[in-house]
Amino acid sequence: MFSEEYIKKHLNYDIDISLYDSVTSTNEILKTRALSGAPHLSLIAACSQTAGRGRLGRNFFSPPGSGIYMSILLRPHGTLEDSLCITTCSAVAMCRVIENVSAASPGIKWVNDIYTDKGKVCGILTEGGFHPDTGDFYAICGIGVNLTPPPGGFPCDIQGKAGALFDNLPDKHIPEKIISDFINTFVPMYNNISEKTFLPEYRKRSIVIGK
Ligand code: BTN
Repeated sequence: MFSEEYIKKHLNYDIDISLYDSVTSTNEILKTRALSGAPHLSLIAACSQTAGRGRLGRNFFSPPGSGIYMSILLRPHGTLEDSLCITTCSAVAMCRVIENVSAASPGIKWVNDIYTDKGKVCGILTEGGFHPDTGDFYAICGIGVNLTPPPGGFPCDIQGKAGALFDNLPDKHIPEKIISDFINTFVPMYNNISEKTFLPEYRKRSIVIGK
């Protein structure tokens, strides 16, 4: 289980955090909370998911003991165009975090996937919706990070594509560090999302643009 104390101590923002050993899907749980009025920047993180969701209706492999599965709730007030940039903004933020905690050189495939020389180490799924009564728009940015190779290996369908950031964790607080660093990096970028200041960095980090 992640240490709440470590995360809170390193966070620059006073946000709602819920940490779990195992959940169905952090995106799914946060959606229910969003509809019951959970505040902007509420965060859910889990050590495993039993029904992790990927893009295009796929599953996201989320076994215990080898990754971080987290979702952050956003209540955007800007334009639709701004909201469409949430995934790109979070991918750039996560690349910076990965560079801070590891020796890897992360690149972004399309806008949702982060790759290192080990393969796909991170997937991002942003889902949005409107509250049926109030009409309020919410977005949930869900991020899965493969920290270490799962004990039984990756399943056949993602073998050769998925990879892990580390062979072994260099420090037992790496998961908490990634969670807190991500929030500290992402939130100021998100607060300025209409300026799109992260776009040149996204283009530089993209492994598909111009290739
Ligand atoms: C993809 O690679 O297709 C996107 C994967 C997104 C996975 C994350 S893990 C945390 C959050 N909860 C989910 O059910 N999915 C996202």
